[in-house]
Amino acid sequence: MSTYEEEIKKAHERVAESYGIVDLYGNPAGEWEGWVFQKTVVDKVAYFWRRYGGENTLLLDAGCGNGQITQVFASLGAETMVGVDFAMPMLKRGRERAQLKGYLERLFLVKGNLKELPFASERFSLIHLYGVMEHLDDPRQVLKELGRVLKKGGHLVLSIPRKWSLAHLTYIGFSPSVRDWGKELSWRSFLKFREKAQFYRFYSWGQFSSLVPDGLKVVERVPVLHYFVCGPLDRWIRRWDKGVSSMEVRERFFSKIPLPPAGEYVVLQRV
Ligand SMILES: C[S@@+](CC[C@H](N)C(=O)[O-])C[C@H]1O[C@@H](n2cnc3c(N)ncnc32)[C@H](O)[C@@H]1O
Repeated sequence: MSTYEEEIKKAHERVAESYGIVDLYGNPAGEWEGWVFQKTVVDKVAYFWRRYGGENTLLLDAGCGNGQITQVFASLGAETMVGVDFAMPMLKRGRERAQLKGYLERLFLVKGNLKELPFASERFSLIHLYGVMEHLDDPRQVLKELGRVLKKGGHLVLSIPRKWSLAHLTYIGFSPSVRDWGKELSWRSFLKFREKAQFYRFYSWGQFSSLVPDGLKVVERVPVLHYFVCGPLDRWIRRWDKGVSSMEVRERFFSKIPLPPAGEYVVLQRV
């Protein structure tokens, strides 16, 4: 394992207890977080499942962490799911979650590195990779390896954070370095700009597409809007139209405000 991967692994091990937008029961920290999770994850996963999954799908949640995305697939009726991650505390939490939510018998959790997966070739019909591209030191090798274990005609859905998006700028400006996740933070953690760029990577479309190996082709791109940055405005947004529920007022507000994408989901097919 490279030093870079060691750092990423340790950072995720430290935050495993608290990681995610929803807790082990699937509950978000607040109503706003729940709404964002619904819009950016649950609705999207449901769409990809309808289009590329369904009955008899063998699903791989690559870099599954503590299983907040696996849980969404489970709720959609996925029958056989495999989660792989190299951070053991994350996998333990994923197991607890599956036990609590009653889908442990449909889930196999495996410790492994995405650069060298412990699976035979052409195994999975759907692979999902959420929130992982930003933490890879060798994304080209990971895409190649995911392509190897994907069946011919199968699909790989992955999220990519966009370079120079509002998400990128707010990350560079206001977030601590990944290497300091789970540690006591000092103001220095927020000023490590070079380290921040190294351990949390954003991609231009050109950069991403140059990484796609032969045998995989892009079949769909779905932008993900930047709702999170509007969190501080939520109280004000909810007052915008008092006649409707908070959920609906957010829907109405964001249908009128053209937010730029924070990134996108890309669907690759094994040809
Ligand atoms: C930001 S978390 C996302 C977790 C999960 N997909 C989610 O959205 O909740 C990234 C995960 O990828 C895992 N990861 C990063 N690089 C990896 C690698 N090379 N091999 C295996 N797991 C890796 C980390 O341990 C971490 O759990």
